[in-house]
Amino acid sequence: MNGIKLIATGSALPERVVTNADMAKIVDTNDEWIVSRTGISSRRHCSGDECHTSLCLAAARQALERSGIRPEQIGVCLVATLSQDFLTPATACVLQMELGLPEDTVCFDLNAACSGFVYGLHTAECLLAAAPRKYGLVIGCEVLSRLTDFTDRSTCVLFGDGAGAAVVEWNEAYPSLHGVLGCRGNREALLVPGVNTKDHSYIHMDGQTVFRFAVEALPRCAKEVAGKAGISLDQVDRFVFHQANQRIIDFAVKKLKVDPAKCTGNISRTGNTSAASVPILLDELVSSGALTSGQKALCVGFGGGLTWAGGLLELA
Ligand code: UT7
Repeated sequence: MNGIKLIATGSALPERVVTNADMAKIVDTNDEWIVSRTGISSRRHCSGDECHTSLCLAAARQALERSGIRPEQIGVCLVATLSQDFLTPATACVLQMELGLPEDTVCFDLNAACSGFVYGLHTAECLLAAAPRKYGLVIGCEVLSRLTDFTDRSTCVLFGDGAGAAVVEWNEAYPSLHGVLGCRGNREALLVPGVNTKDHSYIHMDGQTVFRFAVEALPRCAKEVAGKAGISLDQVDRFVFHQANQRIIDFAVKKLKVDPAKCTGNISRTGNTSAASVPILLDELVSSGALTSGQKALCVGFGGGLTWAGGLLELA
């Protein structure tokens, strides 16, 4: 067996807090509807000079500093995102330059929407096995406020901005993530038009279709990861689920019959930050001491694509 362990985490959230009361000034909505249907009370939006690159850099620098790993030791740098500042250069290439990562570091962005960070962990595990240096930097970052249609009340209340970063180490003695990744291609359920379409790049979502997908995919993926790792769900110390909707998480907790205290999240304060949601939550858990050395976090992302991705990540 060989795999990665989590060495350290970091995160960065924009300063500006946008409450449900703020959203009610923009569209016909109210705090009661948003909280009861989603669990979200506020989210963060970039303002001023804040941007995707600055959030990525802040989260990455914090994770690196906490890890004690020097930039020269990094072999792989991946950024999971669908809202990067530039189509090229990839955000990971900008990080290579700004952080001073060696030129032979494998650097690229990957888009698996809300599953992106866990797709990134799995990809890093595979790449690091062959890389000359065994430390990887995996980041999830989104600035969804730039892709949000603020006239569409069914989507604009959901999304937020932020970044989370993880420094991981590959070792042939470490257990694998036991990654479970998949895709059920669907263009209509969750769509952000690209540069070659006539439509402006706003998020379009058929909420109910994605909700039905999520409540099926999340518990299935979590069970498959535990099955692959050969452990029972009771042996998992923490569940780090993508924060899309508190009702989806509550449903999964019930279905999996796991301790809700191991599934606490942050959606009330962050909203849905897509690829950033799992690493931001991971960072909160590590920083608060809720996930400690030797403990295992079962991470699951799900969303646009439609995609899902799960893995069991141990804190070194
Ligand atoms: O991160 C990627 C994965 N994403 C997800 O997993 C999201 C999955 N979907 C969801 O979380 C939910 O479907 C939503 C939160 C997006 C929507 O919740 P819902 O319970 O499915 O609401 P709905 O779309 O069925 O709408 C119910 C009603 C509608 O009114 P009518 O037709 O019943 O009169 C909507 O117009 O709620 C209305 N509505 C709102 N009312 C107040 C929709 N958005 C709002 C709003 N404020 N912001």
